[in-house]
Amino acid sequence: MPVTQSTVRVISHLDRDYLRQALEHDVTAGLTSSPKWLPPKWFYDAAGSDLFSRITRLPEYYPTRRELTILRARAADLAAVSRADTLVELGSGTSEKTGLLLDALSAAGTLRGYTPVDVDAVTLEAAAHRLAGRYPGLTVQAVCADFERHLALLPRNGRRMVAFLGGTIGNLEPAARAVFLKELRATLRSGDTFLLGADLVKERGRLVAAYDDSAGVTAEFNRNVLRVINRELDADFEPESFEHVAVYDERHDWIEMRLRASRAMRVRVGGLGLSVSFEEGEEMRTEISAKFREDGLRGELAAAGFGVRRHYTDPEGDFALVLAEA
Ligand code: AVJ
Repeated sequence: MPVTQSTVRVISHLDRDYLRQALEHDVTAGLTSSPKWLPPKWFYDAAGSDLFSRITRLPEYYPTRRELTILRARAADLAAVSRADTLVELGSGTSEKTGLLLDALSAAGTLRGYTPVDVDAVTLEAAAHRLAGRYPGLTVQAVCADFERHLALLPRNGRRMVAFLGGTIGNLEPAARAVFLKELRATLRSGDTFLLGADLVKERGRLVAAYDDSAGVTAEFNRNVLRVINRELDADFEPESFEHVAVYDERHDWIEMRLRASRAMRVRVGGLGLSVSFEEGEEMRTEISAKFREDGLRGELAAAGFGVRRHYTDPEGDFALVLAEA
């Protein structure tokens, strides 16, 4: 048999201006608010992505390993239940997980297409070509887009499984989560599925340790957002003058990461013509990472028009992988 060539197509809904304007908008809004905040989306330049991949290997950071455990055990079942021919992956920096799903869909005989979606064109092209090389005949349609803004523009061909893994949904506040789920549901046809990875509520000590590791990698990851702003917006943050703080908020069931000014200081953001002052001890929120319960997940999915077909956890009950149907 001749080897079937794979095809790779890259579509971009973002230009340099889009990301730049989004960053300017977020930093202006966050630094002029009281209390100040910055969105977690801007952690992930090359250095930040590297720090995050070190986080996933830390002994305290269990989510990545737990999700992989579930996927290894259940990928074949997910393929059989979904009968998907196209895997759409929101945030494609998760190659090992992607491989497990593509292998299972391929073994089930349904696999035809893979659509990685990411804001970072470099990550995206790398994922597209690596996977196209591994699965002969696969149609790869990579989409450079912001999943909070461009869901309606995703390709709609095939019977799709949209995967949103790693617990990243926890970065969205409840209201934004509801909007995201509704918009996603609106782009799907009945029979399409949504595979969602979500971290579960557990003992506070383990949650805090996962976001405040003893090697200090998460602290560096947290401070990286200041380095990104320094470089991209010509700011003069001194990252070493901010302490990493991770607290669990039991009322909202979420971890909050903050940066605490260790002394009073004034910071100039040249690119925005903005100057902001911090008091000694002032805390600025940089991320929420929400933790879920099974009934809460079902409720939020149902409210958006999804029915849960499978709800898996790892043997420890640390992490959930949910297959929902549109
Ligand atoms: C990539 C969003 C899933 O919230 O656990 C890791 C990011 N922040 N350590 C998470 C993160 C601090 C991570 N997600």
